Order: sequence, then structure tokens, then C-alpha cells
Amino acid sequence: MRSVPVLRDSREISLETVLPVASISSEQHLAFTSDADLEIAWDLGLFYLKTPDELDLESARQFGKELIATDSSYRQVPQYGELEGFIALENNQQTKLALRRERWDQHYPEHIAAFGRQLDAIGIAIIRKVFCRSGIPEALWDRASGGYASGGGDAFLNFVHYDTRTPDWGLRPHTDYGFVTILDASAPGLQIEINGEFKDVPVLPGHLIINFGEALNFITAHSDRAVSAVTHRVVSQRSSDPVRHGIVYFANPDLDGMLWQFNASGEEQGSSSVENLFAQLESRLTETRQS
Ligand SMILES: [Fe+2]
Repeated sequence: MRSVPVLRDSREISLETVLPVASISSEQHLAFTSDADLEIAWDLGLFYLKTPDELDLESARQFGKELIATDSSYRQVPQYGELEGFIALENNQQTKLALRRERWDQHYPEHIAAFGRQLDAIGIAIIRKVFCRSGIPEALWDRASGGYASGGGDAFLNFVHYDTRTPDWGLRPHTDYGFVTILDASAPGLQIEINGEFKDVPVLPGHLIINFGEALNFITAHSDRAVSAVTHRVVSQRSSDPVRHGIVYFANPDLDGMLWQFNASGEEQGSSSVENLFAQLESRLTETRQS
């Protein structure tokens, strides 16, 4: 991550007062209160988004709380590969129901699949703003993002619960691999790394937390404005803490697709298969864990 000049001497400052806040207009445009706020968000790789009025968040939260009940039928959703299904991970406290867009209609109730498509629209608004600021010509946005910018690509809608019976990290330090992550969390615990130090990202009522991932960093790397992929973690949740539920949406490229790097003149600067990029990130993560 680039150093964040505005936050260089921020040790004593609560992030709640410095994190930029954006909103999405009725025309689906992402807007910050000032240009400076956008620059901070792009450097940090994280910002708050005012929850759009039309987003049916309450019923999605309710769904997320109910699906972890011991008699919930959603516990029977089968695993598809390593990433999808009802999953209890071994190296952190997360238990989750994770499904990619193609399976929402099959396994989620209609209103939750529709909620996922509302998050698709938010993800697209965010990535289009990133492309706008990058200077990459609009005709190339689709190719650069493996189709995500126009409604394709890959997306996950996950409902997460932190199981305090496991004395482990909530979630170990990592960067997200995809483009954009949209998070609704019911309790504190998220921390991000700024200039080498982890700081709390407070829950801001009425707001979602947005962060950028490695694939977005990759495709903007040679443009007029790259974005950072923020390193983050979730601290261990204890049984005395309020129960932490999370709704997480990942905007990702197609796993079997390509990512392209363009500059602001539209000239190709590099490319990678998504598979290779993710494999590289994975080996970097493993090295960090072992060191
Ligand atoms: Fe993450």
C-alpha cells in the first residue's frame, strides 16, 4: 500500500473522523463530498458508503441471522469447490454461507437474490468511478475488468457469522483478491493497516464499508490513478462481544478470464490471467504466514 500522507500523523485520530464517506446518486453515480476525500479513499483502499435508501438491508440482515440457527435448512446447502456453500473455515472464526451469482436464484430466497443484484449495481457504480478517475478510455473498461463493469464478471454474496467457540483470529490479515468488497457488519472488529499500523474501522450506522482488492489495483496500476488494495483483518471475537454477523459482497473477475492493464491513452501495458494473479497472491500470503 502507498503511504497515506494525510494520515501520516494520525496515530491519535479515530478513523471514524478521517474515513471518507461517499454516496450513490439516483443516476447510479458514486460521489464524495470533495475531491480530496476521493483521493484519500483511493490511497487507503477503503471508504464508507451511505446505505442507499432503496437497498433492502434489514431483511437481508434478518436472513443472515436466521440462517445460522442449528435447525436452519441453509446448513444443508452443499459445498461447491472450496469457495461456495455452507462453510466453516479452519484458520479463523468464520462460518458462512457463500454463493456466487449463478447460484443465488437456486439457493437464496427471491428477496435475497434481488438484494444481491442491488449490490451488483453498487459494485458497478464504484468500479465505473474508479475507471473514470483512472483516465482509462471508457471503451476499454469492459475488457479491463473481465466484463464486470457492465454486469458480467463474477460476484459472491456471503452471509458470515463469527463463531466465538474457536479462539482464533476473526479473520487473519489479508488483502481481498477481487475488485471491490461491500461489507455490512453488525459489530466492531475490522481493522485496516495504515502506514504499518492496524487501526479500528468503526461501524458507522447507516453506512456500508467498501474496500478495494488486488485485481482493481492490478488493472489501474499503469493508469493516471491506481487504487490501493487495503490490508485488513478481523480481531478475535469473544463470547462477551456482541455477535458479529456480516453480509459480504465480492465483485470479482471471472476466474477463468483475463485482466488487462491500460494507460490513460488506451495503450496496453500488461495482462494476466486471473488464475495466475490469484495464484501469485496466494503464494505471497502463504510466505507471509510462514515467516
Ligand atoms: Fe477481506
